[in-house]
Amino acid sequence: MYVNVSDKCSAIRARKEEGPPIAALTAWDYPTARLLDEAGTDLILVGDSLGMVVLGFPDTTHVTMEHMIHHVSAAARGCRKALLVADLPINSYDNETEAVQNAHTLVKAGAEAVKLEGGTEQAENVAAIIREGIPVLGHLGMLPQQVREEGGYRTKGKSSAEASCLLQGAVALETAGCFAVVLESVVPTVAKEVRCHTGIPTIGIGCGTGNCDGEIAVTSDVIGSYPWFVPPFATQRADVAGEIRKSVSDYILHCHATERTTIPAPAAS
Ligand code: KIV
Repeated sequence: MYVNVSDKCSAIRARKEEGPPIAALTAWDYPTARLLDEAGTDLILVGDSLGMVVLGFPDTTHVTMEHMIHHVSAAARGCRKALLVADLPINSYDNETEAVQNAHTLVKAGAEAVKLEGGTEQAENVAAIIREGIPVLGHLGMLPQQVREEGGYRTKGKSSAEASCLLQGAVALETAGCFAVVLESVVPTVAKEVRCHTGIPTIGIGCGTGNCDGEIAVTSDVIGSYPWFVPPFATQRADVAGEIRKSVSDYILHCHATERTTIPAPAAS
């Protein structure tokens, strides 16, 4: 059944009151998106974390609009029921005009909504995108696109100044029209406070269990397909990397042990 985008966003929004908690995951290609969609994932994010777990960059600051367009269009071909959200990459929403233009480009590639990082300072960009009819998912707390300025990944909300900044940011994003907000690596008690003070769902990653209205995870952390770095808060539920290693070693052994058919001697002339 075809469900329109605004109904999908309203359904996500209603989960704050009605439950069950939102289950969100990231995808970067057709088979991943299709498998997640068929399994019943509520929201699929083509996150700029694909810069690390798919493209091999050290962080998300290397991701461009071209990368996003390529992966959003692949994921969109596999997504039917879930709401498909695409990250606006770094430097793609430095002002309202660029934010709106790039949001339209991601929608044209197949996204149904966009996500951007930041709170109060992003409220005008968010409102401008929403005026164009494109739903926006906010992102507060640890902001991976700021990793270079911050010199690393830090949990947010440790000081009362940071906690009130998060609360203000959530209210600003809700007022600007976001249908939900991701909270990343926020002190659990503060994440809970943000959840209680906003009318839109909070979707947590690295905020402890039960402190948000749902959870989002990077799929490679859940399925164990990127073994070289797993964030401390992630729960790995499968060992895809181990399975690939085993099956590929088995294949290599098979190739090396194969007895080849004899090449017939050339006919004497
Ligand atoms: O890019 C991403 O995968 C994200 C999630 C961590 C929320 O933004």
